[in-house]
Amino acid sequence: MRRTVEVAADRGALMEAGAAAFVAAARAAIGAHGRFIAALSGGSTPRALFELLATERLASSIDWSRMHVCFGDERAVPPDAEASNYRMAREALLNHVPLPAAQVHRIRGEDPPQVAAEAYERTLRTLFATPAGPPGACFDLVLLGMGDNGHTASLFPGLQAVREAERWVVAESVAEVGMWRITLTPVVLNGAADVLFLVSGADKASMLHRVLDGPVRPDTYPAQIVAPHHGRLRWLVDTDAAAELEER
Ligand code: 6PG
Repeated sequence: MRRTVEVAADRGALMEAGAAAFVAAARAAIGAHGRFIAALSGGSTPRALFELLATERLASSIDWSRMHVCFGDERAVPPDAEASNYRMAREALLNHVPLPAAQVHRIRGEDPPQVAAEAYERTLRTLFATPAGPPGACFDLVLLGMGDNGHTASLFPGLQAVREAERWVVAESVAEVGMWRITLTPVVLNGAADVLFLVSGADKASMLHRVLDGPVRPDTYPAQIVAPHHGRLRWLVDTDAAAELEER
């Protein structure tokens, strides 16, 4: 696994770097195999990145007709709920670009969580033409964030999902946030060609140091479980988030 850590001067520069990486990954995948399949992260950090991708300057540099959008995780809420990752992506990006609706694959957070997880695994298996077993070629790009407790997607400390070895998508009740979450597992995340973490802000500095510089303990720091088998792993962070990182 090739891992790099790139530090941007500030949050604005971080979003520009993230958008440039997204556009480059899209163009490379479409050039190489005619389509681009990306998994979007949720939470608050990517909203500004999505809004940047929706600007004429950047939206005009992607062939959206050849793109498929998936989600790394979802909260067990309806698609119009304030907490919905799909709603955030729709408002910040999907409503503003010519991406065919049939190529937006959202997690049905309104359904019973186990049902939503199983259905989403079927959706991904169809998309990747892998009816059974581990993923072969899968996501061209997976966007991820990191919580100040070291979680990523909805892989939270101490949850079984962190160690899942078979299923591509699982649902778990997360006491820490008081709700059910549906999340992609390491099985499919680590099959990606390119994983891009976007981390911003001083409140993430201590955890980022532990995740990148500390001992590998994924049950405590789930973001550490993300290690693409054949792909690239990039951490794009801003100066505030990088404040405690060891010299590289
Ligand atoms: C979610 C995300 C989650 C997020 C981190 C960071 O559904 O909440 O997928 O993994 O990336 O919690 O969230 P912030 O960007 O809001 O700090």
